[in-house]
Amino acid sequence: MGHVFYRRTSHHILDAERGEGVYIWDTSGRRYLDASGGPACVNVGHGVRSVVESMAEQAGRIAYAHATDFTTDVVETYSDRLAEIVPLRQPRFFYLTSGSEAVEAALKFARQVQLGHGGRARALTISRWGSYHGATLGALAVTGKPAMRELFGPLFCDQPHIPAPYCYRCPYSATYPACNLECAGALEAEILHQGPDRVIAFIAEPIGGSALGAIVPPDEYWTRIAETCRRYGLLLIVDEVLCGFGRTGAWFGIDHFDVKPDVMVMAKGAAGGYVPFSILAVERDAVARIYRAHGGFVHGGTFSHHAVGASAALATLDYIQENALVAAVRTRGTYLGQRLADALGELPCVGDIRGLGLLWAVEFVENREAKTPFRVALGFCERVCSLSADRGVLLYPRSGCADGVTGDHVMVSPPFVIEESQIDEIVDTLREAVLDVWEQVR
Ligand SMILES: Cc1ncc(COP(=O)(O)O)c(C=O)c1O
Repeated sequence: MGHVFYRRTSHHILDAERGEGVYIWDTSGRRYLDASGGPACVNVGHGVRSVVESMAEQAGRIAYAHATDFTTDVVETYSDRLAEIVPLRQPRFFYLTSGSEAVEAALKFARQVQLGHGGRARALTISRWGSYHGATLGALAVTGKPAMRELFGPLFCDQPHIPAPYCYRCPYSATYPACNLECAGALEAEILHQGPDRVIAFIAEPIGGSALGAIVPPDEYWTRIAETCRRYGLLLIVDEVLCGFGRTGAWFGIDHFDVKPDVMVMAKGAAGGYVPFSILAVERDAVARIYRAHGGFVHGGTFSHHAVGASAALATLDYIQENALVAAVRTRGTYLGQRLADALGELPCVGDIRGLGLLWAVEFVENREAKTPFRVALGFCERVCSLSADRGVLLYPRSGCADGVTGDHVMVSPPFVIEESQIDEIVDTLREAVLDVWEQVR
């Protein structure tokens, strides 16, 4: 591939030419079903004309106006529309380009809010093991994927982590509800361990995304977490980068739980993958507080509040609403979950199938009884996905769910416009690929 370098050399990179709906065509004319929507960001499908036209129209009028000096109609209109769906009181939005960047901004914003309350000693943000919050150094410090953090530990200021609500491999070897949600109780224990006046916030994905694979916590989990945050004056930051904008069958992942966050972070599907676009969402009072304390948000970004980004996000939101796609995610998601369970649930190398809406994961194991993960060297999931790709279905292989290093799972998170017959094709292809790889390695 000439002068470009990519993340890995271990697998073949396809040459994408065009996309339409759930399909991508490569330059040789081969068609692939995009069964993971990229990494769960192609929410409305490829090639949606209204999104493309909205971006072109905005770029033709004005593509860029420095956000220090200007606002644009499209940014204001989009914010009004977004305010109607986020679970925040009098929400205010700050726009950036990637999820990692928005997480960084959230961490800084939360620190400024605590400083505004006089909490100078508050310098830590607690997060969870098995989480992913981004690739930049601040986001890595709260990320809980050891394999991604290992090389860079000396470069970032590490933050405390607590166990995740990963019921299939409960970190306390317990079973819900007898476990009494020890994983939620761990937040209070960690706050007390660090010292309550030293902690800024708690950050987590409402439903675990790609790192542990679509882990849906028990209902009371988030209520317990939110109560603990309130008790100790922590801000509750929910990372909706992957779950947001309908992916789980509600506008936001946190909407499944009876909890109101203080700060939200969104990206990926916000603009449907058409352009890099991310959002930090907070409440008006918090913004007022940092304005009073510091004269503003001590942050920036050349491409913040980008007009073309907002035009893509606005058209994406229109498309989701006009086509009732959040409701569609619920019905199509139920069908996908059922099909996965029927076709793969009994296979000897499938340990767990979990998810919600159109966010599903299948975890593979060498031994179902003992839940033994495959050896890393086997590259089980990579092989499954590579075989599926050869057969025309693109999936998202992930590793490290069991203990940070071992553990294979595949993400199935197609665009919301997926049809039942296409879900059948995904599930049948995945099943065949799993059986073939299992045959090779057993
Ligand atoms: C939950 C979550 N947060 C943050 C990020 C980082 O987003 P980005 O890759 O856009 O920087 C991701 C990306 O996968 C994510 O899933």
